[in-house]
Amino acid sequence: MAAVLHCMKTLIIAIDGPSGAGKGTVARAIASELGYRHVDSGAMYRAVGWQALRNGVPLEDEGAVARMAAGLRIEVLANAVSIDGLDVTREIRTPAIDRAAATVARWPQVRAVLVERQRRMGQGGAIVMEGRDIGTVVFPDADVKVYLDAAPEERARRRAHDPAHSGPTEVALVKSALTARDEGDRTRTASPLYVARDATLVDTTGKSVAEVVAEVLGVISGKLRTEK
Ligand code: DC
Repeated sequence: MAAVLHCMKTLIIAIDGPSGAGKGTVARAIASELGYRHVDSGAMYRAVGWQALRNGVPLEDEGAVARMAAGLRIEVLANAVSIDGLDVTREIRTPAIDRAAATVARWPQVRAVLVERQRRMGQGGAIVMEGRDIGTVVFPDADVKVYLDAAPEERARRRAHDPAHSGPTEVALVKSALTARDEGDRTRTASPLYVARDATLVDTTGKSVAEVVAEVLGVISGKLRTEK
């Protein structure tokens, strides 16, 4: 399979799904397997939420948040996120920023700023981008679209034990916050989370990372074979 995957044009791979479905781990592994860039688009919404709180910009003021976002230099690297050169990798993964990011992600003007940057990152292909609207809005023509999901209990357990995130580790608490945020992501008017018509749904419940990565690589190579 690896041979099929390595001898081809540079692809855009979109991975969407709710929190804790395993997008980050899987997208990183796929990017590393293919030698592609991995971009966590959620980190960009988190960066905007973090900076708005820091600057005292009201999260409910769409225009002010969007103007602020347009002036920010957000760098999302494989293992680090920075805003105007300041490393915020850890600071953006707290319960307060979970909420702030979900709020700013509701605003079409904020999304327009970030989507435009995400599209620019994808211009040369060779990218695995994860988020909520990557296959539906950012790259509707992505070569491969995968939607990862898992049972809420399992997603909450993963998030509670994720060392990149600070906050409560009690699964019940994490689950109620996570379910509420996901409901918000699914029902918002601007770019809600849903499974793109041409996406392959992969349920990661009860599967190891290695199993899911193998399944997704299988989806990618299957897609390439049908295109030939
Ligand atoms: O994936 P995450 O939990 O780090 O995302 C943070 C927030 O940003 C979450 O509320 C969903 C939102 N988001 C979005 O609306 N669109 C994306 N492409 C990525 C994340």
